[in-house]
Amino acid sequence: MQKYIVRGGRPLYGEVRISGAKNAAVAIIPAALLVGGVCRIENVPQISDVTVLLKILRQIGANVRVLNTTDVEIDCTHINTTRVPQELAHKLRASYYLIGALLGRFGSAEVSMPGGCNFGGVRPIDQHVKGFAAMGADVREGDYIVARAKGGRMKGANIYLDVVSVGATMNIMMAAALADGVTVIENAAKEPHIVDLANFLNSMGANIKGAGTDTIRVFGVEALHGGTYAIIPDQIEAGTYMAAVAATGGDVLIRGIIPKHMDCITAKLQEMGVEVEEKDDTLRIRRDGELTRTNVKTLPYPGFPTDMQPQITTVLALARGTSIVTEGVWDNRYRYVGELTRMGAQIRVEGRTAIVEGVSHLTPATVQAYDLRAGAAMVVAALAATGTSEILNVQYIERGYEDIIGKLRSIGADIESVEYSEEEFIQRQIG
Ligand code: EPU
Repeated sequence: MQKYIVRGGRPLYGEVRISGAKNAAVAIIPAALLVGGVCRIENVPQISDVTVLLKILRQIGANVRVLNTTDVEIDCTHINTTRVPQELAHKLRASYYLIGALLGRFGSAEVSMPGGCNFGGVRPIDQHVKGFAAMGADVREGDYIVARAKGGRMKGANIYLDVVSVGATMNIMMAAALADGVTVIENAAKEPHIVDLANFLNSMGANIKGAGTDTIRVFGVEALHGGTYAIIPDQIEAGTYMAAVAATGGDVLIRGIIPKHMDCITAKLQEMGVEVEEKDDTLRIRRDGELTRTNVKTLPYPGFPTDMQPQITTVLALARGTSIVTEGVWDNRYRYVGELTRMGAQIRVEGRTAIVEGVSHLTPATVQAYDLRAGAAMVVAALAATGTSEILNVQYIERGYEDIIGKLRSIGADIESVEYSEEEFIQRQIG
């Protein structure tokens, strides 16, 4: 097992380049299953969720070639099976995209129930299932989700999502790309990765209109062809580095971003007294004065992203005054707060609200990464706390952040990943 050792309390200076977006990559890679031909996908982040998905595709018969550190070629012309075994699928949440993609191409999918980050609450997939059923699939849920399209091909349908769901929107788009007729998704999610998936599919011959708005229309086509596509940069990875600089102070140039995607995060940090300067595909972020309080409410895009909630709460923990954070997407995403309070933060959680009383500094401690973004928040906190902190369970962080150690070191952080034994882990849990 690995843990991070962080000697915090130093401001960050330099430049950091952002990788391809995790939540786009984990949809676009399964979407290659819809394509009979070679897809060259560029700007793929090197993260463990991507590695697992590529392994799954290989396991079911795809020809996957990793060309270099960012580009892969996936050829799903010949797939052996539409059953995805449990041992890999349960490792990540995004394995649910295999259902939509396999159903769309072959009219049949058997995929183990998805695993992945658990923030403590339930992560239902009823809206995905409702969409598939409306398109004529028979869907049974058990240890495996077994779905079969009547007549072997999905049929276009009108689907109104009861909740704005990123996963359901993308899964239905995939199931609809090769369907017979037109599928209309209403109350669709509008995140940048929704638009990215639509652009990927369209570049391979699909006909999807309206991605990025509430209503998406998917005009089913007979087949998709191969092509080349580059994934967008990761909004949340960029936001996490912004939060790190806000917490530690310093001056960092973040390269390779789409500024529009960063607007809501930029606006909140500016309210807190952080300087953010936008230019082409870079953001310069500077903080040397005090941080001031603000309120944050997470909402579906273009609102403030829930995947930045733990990191911004960590910055607010260091801001003068009382801030209110409201989680508007997930029922329960505050499990990490206990770890932050062990570092001296003063935060009280009441339902979906966290009341953050700013403190002048955080103190180093040994803390757990409970999930991906909670782990990122622990890194931000440890970088800000003067002294040596340890972060356990870092495999969660590495699911979604490419080379976080190398990137942070390149901007002056003192952080290393070291191996530790299972016995030490158990001792820490009980001690
Ligand atoms: N929901 C339902 N029924 C469904 C689907 C969702 O009730 O069938 C509810 C959820 O319980 C939640 C809300 O709808 O309250 C939004 O869930 P959504 O489906 O949008 O989330 P997701 O697709 O499972 C993706 C990201 C998450 C991110 C959310 C929201 C991936 C693999 N995951 O999850 O990312 O928090 O969208 O933006 O794309 C992360 O990157 O750390 C992460 C957890």
